[in-house]
Amino acid sequence: MIRHVAIIGAGLIGASWAALFLSKGLRVTVSDPSRQALDGLPAFITTAWHDLAQLDEIAAAPPFEMLHVTQDIAMACAEADLVQECGPDRIAIKQQIVAQIETTLGPDAIIASSTSSLMASDIQTGARHPGRILVAHPMNPPHLVPLVELVAGRATDPACIAAARAFYDRIDRVTVVVRQERVGHLANRLTSALYREAVSLVAEGVATVEDVDRAIAHGPGMRWAFMGPHLTYHLGGGAGGYRHYLDHLGPTQVARWADQTTPVLTPELIETLVAGIEEATEGQSPADLARRRDVALVALAKLKRDLGA
Ligand SMILES: NC(=O)c1ccc[n+]([C@@H]2O[C@H](COP(=O)([O-])OP(=O)(O)OC[C@H]3O[C@@H](n4cnc5c(N)ncnc54)[C@H](O)[C@@H]3O)[C@@H](O)[C@H]2O)c1
Repeated sequence: MIRHVAIIGAGLIGASWAALFLSKGLRVTVSDPSRQALDGLPAFITTAWHDLAQLDEIAAAPPFEMLHVTQDIAMACAEADLVQECGPDRIAIKQQIVAQIETTLGPDAIIASSTSSLMASDIQTGARHPGRILVAHPMNPPHLVPLVELVAGRATDPACIAAARAFYDRIDRVTVVVRQERVGHLANRLTSALYREAVSLVAEGVATVEDVDRAIAHGPGMRWAFMGPHLTYHLGGGAGGYRHYLDHLGPTQVARWADQTTPVLTPELIETLVAGIEEATEGQSPADLARRRDVALVALAKLKRDLGA
């Protein structure tokens, strides 16, 4: 039974995991070489707690007695049942972190990396116990977005995937097991496919940054919180379902794919994208926008729960 989680890296993702794990009654030890990152945790967790309290029956205030922080990675892992690795997304650093973790971590404990794009096979290279290392990738912010993608590396023990899945399910995450190691796993490949087109449309002058984002948030995004693209097009086929959709409109999808291009991320294009988002957000700070996003995510999570969707 996993009762004590060590989190390595107290940045955006590590801090959010910490709030979630505490809200699920787990003991949490967070390690980061940056004292500043560790010092910022209580404020982040207090804000996150307010959101989590709307979704779960939890104590009025975060149980900070269940939270420990240290700059010493090895010390953080000595009593952990699972390590949620949230360090910088560089393979050399991940491997170095694993080596430090393994100096104290018990042999039955799991090492789950939050990596967005690295492979478990590379992270476990050189490890003492590679079989207990996997990718458990969340979406930002993990305390409010329930998806966790589990990916095995070449050496990962299938029992480790099963144990990790049981753990994340127990804490009310929605898990998917990705069957092959691919850059960006599953969800981020989908978002990258969309983002490529979002950038292309701006680069080619088809629409502004603001209108591209508006088109998603008020159009397909309305459906995507409840159903993926396959089910969406199943309904797009009316009574004939997915088969009719593909017979009728499949060729128009093929024509759209053929018309799409991969943009070159030049310095000029970066300037255009940044200027576009500055215009669209009109001086609102990233912190203000993240707060608005989290208020909306809480409301959406409640709605999905009420609808069983
Ligand atoms: N940001 C996202 O949207 C997102 C989403 C899902 C997954 N991830 C993944 O989560 C991981 C963390 O990303 P983030 O966005 O929280 O990054 P971040 O830069 O916010 O945080 C990284 C933290 O790691 C610390 N760190 C630096 N060197 C370290 C070391 N040697 N050992 C331990 N900690 C060290 C830094 O001080 C920092 O606090 C990455 O693997 C990333 O791919 C990020």
